[in-house]
Amino acid sequence: MVAPSDNWIKPPSTNSSGHTGEGVIIDIGTGDGRFVYQSARQNPDKFYIGIDPNTRPLEKISEKIYRKPAKGGAGNVLFIQAAIEDLPGELNGVADEVHVHFPWGSLLRAVAIGEIEVLRNVRRICSTGALLEVVTGLDPERDRSEIERLGLPPLSLDFIDTVLTKNYAAAGFKITERGILAASEWPDFETSWAKRLKGNERRPITYLIATADDTD
Ligand SMILES: C[S@@+](CC[C@H](N)C(=O)[O-])C[C@H]1O[C@@H](n2cnc3c(N)ncnc32)[C@H](O)[C@@H]1O
Repeated sequence: MVAPSDNWIKPPSTNSSGHTGEGVIIDIGTGDGRFVYQSARQNPDKFYIGIDPNTRPLEKISEKIYRKPAKGGAGNVLFIQAAIEDLPGELNGVADEVHVHFPWGSLLRAVAIGEIEVLRNVRRICSTGALLEVVTGLDPERDRSEIERLGLPPLSLDFIDTVLTKNYAAAGFKITERGILAASEWPDFETSWAKRLKGNERRPITYLIATADDTD
């Protein structure tokens, strides 16, 4: 397995011994691409792919990546317009890591309910042993209408250990770590929404890390 890159909510436990300088990292629901861009600049030997159906917020960074490295460029970045429900076949088996940070809408529903068919799409783009990180930060009051609209249950550890563990397993992922961080424990996390949402006391982070099973 390729060693995990930097910029995890919590460094995942793996059997790897240190960084190898290899790997393809895919960020689904990349938003303005900040996580992809910052991580790519820090890990120039890894390749980063940001995916989002909405390309407008990506305009600034997708222009910046073509500059010379000294002027903020990053040749190890690609952005693709797509949704989690419809990931391009060209990505099959490509990812060593997949990240989903502060998802919204149908992306949130897929990872928070554990929609097996959609998660299978994510498994399809993973290599065996790839790591998946899902990070959500819902405020039960402020986000109430979206939570109700999507029919989301409270994302408790119990829910992860029972329902999500089963659904992720059916899609080919073994959840190996999970946790809830209080608002005061939010780490510095390189995504625009992490920075926007940080500091609200009623907004804990719920995260899980999973490994892509051998599907053969
Ligand atoms: C709250 S933003 C988070 C953006 C970024 N990950 C961050 O942390 O700054 C949620 C993102 O999910 C994307 N999204 C919503 N539904 C999606 C879907 N079905 N597939 C992929 N991305 C989706 C939205 O376009 C939006 O960019």
